[in-house]
Amino acid sequence: MVYTTRMKLLLILLALLVSGAILGSAGCQSAGTMTSPVPVPNTTSTSTTAPIQTSTMPIPTPATATVPGVSFVKDIQTVFSGKCTACHNNSSRLGGLSLEPGSAYNNLVNAKSSESELNRVTAGSPDKSYLLNKVLGTQGQAGGSGLQMPSAGPRLPQDQINLIQQWISEGAPDN
Ligand code: HEC
Repeated sequence: MVYTTRMKLLLILLALLVSGAILGSAGCQSAGTMTSPVPVPNTTSTSTTAPIQTSTMPIPTPATATVPGVSFVKDIQTVFSGKCTACHNNSSRLGGLSLEPGSAYNNLVNAKSSESELNRVTAGSPDKSYLLNKVLGTQGQAGGSGLQMPSAGPRLPQDQINLIQQWISEGAPDN
C-alpha cells in the first residue's frame, strides 16, 4: 500500500518533469531529456528531485512482464508423452520423428521437417513451424502432406494447441 502510493507520487513527479512545465532546467537535465530550452530562472528546491527520479525508472518495467511463460517440460512434453509417443518414440520414429523426453526438443526446434520445406519448429515463428500446421490440420496449406496429428484419436484441445503456439512465439526455450 505504501509502495503504490509512493509510486503514484513519483510517477506524477516524473510527468511534471517530462512536461517541463514547472521545474527548471536542472531537473530536466537529470531526467535525461536532451533539450530544455525553458528560460525559467533556477530555484533552490530542485535538488531533491534528482535522487527520487532515478528510483522511479525501474518501477514501471516489471509491471509489463506479467505474461506467464510456457514451460517445454511441463506444458509441451506432457502433451507429447500423453498423445504422441505411441507412434513417435525412439524405436518407431514415425515420420522420422521421436517425441520422447530427451529427444523431442532436438527433433523439433530448428529441425527440418521430412514432409515440408518448413522446420518442424522455427523458434519465435509459429507461422514457419510445421508442427503447428500438423496439429491444426493445415499441413497441406503449408506445403506438407499426410494426416492431421494426432493421426489416431481426436485433435488436440484448443488450449493445448495455444500452448504450443505460445511456446514457439516465446522463442521455443528448452525449459
Ligand atoms: C497413430 C500414430 C501417430 C500418432 C498418435 C501421432 N502421430 Fe504424428 N505422425 C504419424 C505418422 C505415420 C506420420 C507420417 C505421415 C503423416 O504425416 O501423416 C506422422 C508425422 C508427424 C509430423 C511430421 C514430421 C515431419 O518430419 O514433418 C509431425 C510434426 C507429427 N507427426 C506430430 C505429431 C504430434 C505432435 C502428435 C501428438 C499430438 C502425433 N504426431 C501423434 C503417426 C502418429
